[in-house]
Order: sequence, then C-alpha cells, then structure tokens
Amino acid sequence: MAILVPSILSADFTKLGAEVAAAASAGADRIQVDVMDGHFVPNISIGSLGVAAVRRATNLPIEAHLMITDPARYVDDFLRAGADIIIIHWETVEDPHELLAYIRKNGKKAGLAISPDTPVAAFSDLLLAADMFLVMTVHPGFGGQELIPETLGKVTKLRSMLNANAVLADIEVDGGISALTAPVAIAAGANVLVAGSAVYSHPDGAAAGMKHLRAACG
Ligand code: DX5
Repeated sequence: MAILVPSILSADFTKLGAEVAAAASAGADRIQVDVMDGHFVPNISIGSLGVAAVRRATNLPIEAHLMITDPARYVDDFLRAGADIIIIHWETVEDPHELLAYIRKNGKKAGLAISPDTPVAAFSDLLLAADMFLVMTVHPGFGGQELIPETLGKVTKLRSMLNANAVLADIEVDGGISALTAPVAIAAGANVLVAGSAVYSHPDGAAAGMKHLRAACG
C-alpha cells in the first residue's frame, strides 16, 4: 500500500499542531517538512524549528526535505530537531555518499532527491547509499504546482534500476500529487507519495483531503 506523506507547506501555520494531528488521525503515514533557503530554490520556508514543532505535534515519522545549499552544514540541527528521514538534493552536494552515510550513522534514514532537470542516471552509483530516492515531480520551491508528466518516466526507470540491482529502496514523488495523479505515480513505480495542497488546501479540510487521497491510491 502506498505510503502517504502530507507536506505542511500548504498547512495553516496559525494552527500547525492541529493541522498535523488532523492528517495523522486521517491516516497519514509520515509528515514532511519542506525546508527551503531561498538559494537552492526561489523561496524561503522553514528550518529545523519547523521540524521541532512538528515533532511536538505527532509521533509519526518526520521527513525533513532539505531544499537548501550546503545541507551538511545544517544536518545536525535536523537530527537534533527529531527528523526521522533526512532528504538531501543531489544537486546540492559534490558527492552525496558522505552525507548520506552520516545521516545513517546517526540512526536515521537517508533520502536523496533529484529535481526535474536532473537525469535519473544521477542515482546510478548511489543505489546502496540511500534508503529512499525522491523524484521531484515539480520544480522545487512552491506547493500547488501541476505534476510534470515527463518526470514519471524517471520513476519507472529508477524502479527498474533498483530491481535490476535487487535494491529494496523506497521511491518517493513530490509535487502535484492528488487523487487524480496518485494512481498514475504508483503505476509508474512510486510507493511513497508527498502531498501538500491536495491535503491542506482540500475544501473540506486536511482529514478529508487525506481520506480522498488514500481512497484514490487503492
Ligand atoms: C516543492 C514542495 C512541494 C510540496 C508539495 O518544493 O516540495 O512539492 O512538498 O506540494 P503540492 O503537493 O502542493 O504540489
């Protein structure tokens, strides 16, 4: 069954705790905090304080998605804040092996992300270095964007790369995931789905958004 991960990027920050609890009670498997520094992506969001706040609001595993330059400089802050999975972007480090190993050495799961313009071949010598591979289905930086269909071919290619090497890693997609696109992303080979606006901008609230998304995933 797909792992569903609401992203708080689209949540109502005036009631973040309640927003996290609503998604958790409606069946979220994890919570994702989108960390943006205004350098790697053209937007500034929240840092390790956001992870610490979400940590106080739920016992679910927390993903810290580091859309930041020089993630090695800040990784300890996110470890201390309580992240369970730390996702770094391939585009932001010279060689991801070292930082991914450091995250694992600290008992957490290591995630590696690529943006839409980065070929999936970027993962080819890293298949054993991460626990989860994130194929961004939008250009990182903002919620509420449309899924870029061409990115799903990368998911399928990655799934065959993992299978060919007998690697049991998760493939996550993030960006434009909704009740409409979720089944297509799963069919392409993704098993972890991040959704921000489909959950938190749902007209009937986060719990309804979560339930609608889960129903669409079968
Ligand atoms: C982009 C962010 C978003 C967010 C989900 O940088 O990573 O993808 O998590 O946004 P939606 O689900 O609204 O596209």
